[in-house]
Amino acid sequence: MQILDIIEKKKQGFELSKEEIDYFVSGYTENRLPDYQISALLMAICLQSMTARETADLTAAMLNSGERMDLSKIQGITCDKHSTGGVGDKTTLALTPMVVACGARVAKMSGRGLGHTGGTLDKLEAIKGFNVQMSEEAFLNQVNTLGLAIIGQSKNLVPADKKLYALRDVTATVQSIPLIASSIMSKKLACGSDTILLDVKYGKGAFMPTPQKALELAEAMLDIGKHFHKDVRALISNMNEPLGFAIGNALEVKEAVETLKGKGPKDFLELCLCAGSQMLQQAKLAKDDTTARAMLLEVIENGKALDKLLDMVALQGGDSNQLKHVELLPQAAYTIDIPAKQTGYIHEIHALALGKLAMRLGAGRIRLEDNIDPAVGIVLHKKCADYVCEGETLATIHTQKKLSKEWLADFYAAYSIQSTAISKTPLVYKIIM
Ligand code: URA
Repeated sequence: MQILDIIEKKKQGFELSKEEIDYFVSGYTENRLPDYQISALLMAICLQSMTARETADLTAAMLNSGERMDLSKIQGITCDKHSTGGVGDKTTLALTPMVVACGARVAKMSGRGLGHTGGTLDKLEAIKGFNVQMSEEAFLNQVNTLGLAIIGQSKNLVPADKKLYALRDVTATVQSIPLIASSIMSKKLACGSDTILLDVKYGKGAFMPTPQKALELAEAMLDIGKHFHKDVRALISNMNEPLGFAIGNALEVKEAVETLKGKGPKDFLELCLCAGSQMLQQAKLAKDDTTARAMLLEVIENGKALDKLLDMVALQGGDSNQLKHVELLPQAAYTIDIPAKQTGYIHEIHALALGKLAMRLGAGRIRLEDNIDPAVGIVLHKKCADYVCEGETLATIHTQKKLSKEWLADFYAAYSIQSTAISKTPLVYKIIM
């Protein structure tokens, strides 16, 4: 087999065989094929796309490149969730204790964030002492006893994706539905849970610009799930404005805790209920959406969901007192209220622009080795479609330094305030299974 023939075949829009896909994935992962040829092939895939069969074979080839988690020692159905990423997305922190308090099992491997704000691990590490490393045995034991553990990746899962994603990043070949779908699903399948709930986001702070594109990606991932006989479902959700009010690591932990106390933002709670309902149905713990939502609201009401989070944090070495008294979480030196410059209805709060502003305060990292500051970030006071009067606070900035003129100008540029009222776009566009 020749890599040149494979590139030529895809360039002309033909379907690659399983053997050809295995050949290029293993050849690249094992350093037998050079970056320049794989770059050319990735570009051909971007331009010509892949059939569902090719995408499933690509996922299998990537999955087979490394180890897989074996969760068979966990009693009960294990449920995983994945978000394609967004600004203020602290869903795992609140959703997983909610579903676990209802009886689900979550053995979660999460990642760090690159770009605007931290990933789930960075957010959890805002809690003093929280340990994201654990032996496999301790991880499985904790899921069996508590129902929940969230750790960083310990095994060598999907090395093919690490290499291919790094190459895609520098060759303008990230934006391709089969490449994104196989990349995400190979990692999710390697984590070994019985069910997967995907939150595929669209909008200004997301990978996919429109609900239609997000749906296309979700359908490609569901097709992969079917190929592997996994129960995979997906929400398509709006990420034009940030999720909830808080952006920034400790601030998001605080908001997740408030949500588990029944005092969280409406949109964030709705996302947790929507996702949680699907997860409970996947775990066969609820027969329909009405029952599932009632169960989820009950564990917020009776404090069991918050207790799950506190217990997980304590078992993983974290200071759960910081969650009981959230003022003990890392605090920034300054909190600065930013007033609206005009009266009107908020038409836009550009999610990505605010994410980048939070990153400039230190809440996110550009390179994996950069440090992030857990204390800094932005807390919105108003959301899209809200009415605001000139001088009213739009947001409070948690920062270690005074805000520059440029930062403030970029902050105001992220908002569009108009005289006409608008209605709120529904947070969840569609649920597919
Ligand atoms: N996230 C991933 O894990 N892979 C992609 O290709 C895109 C987003």
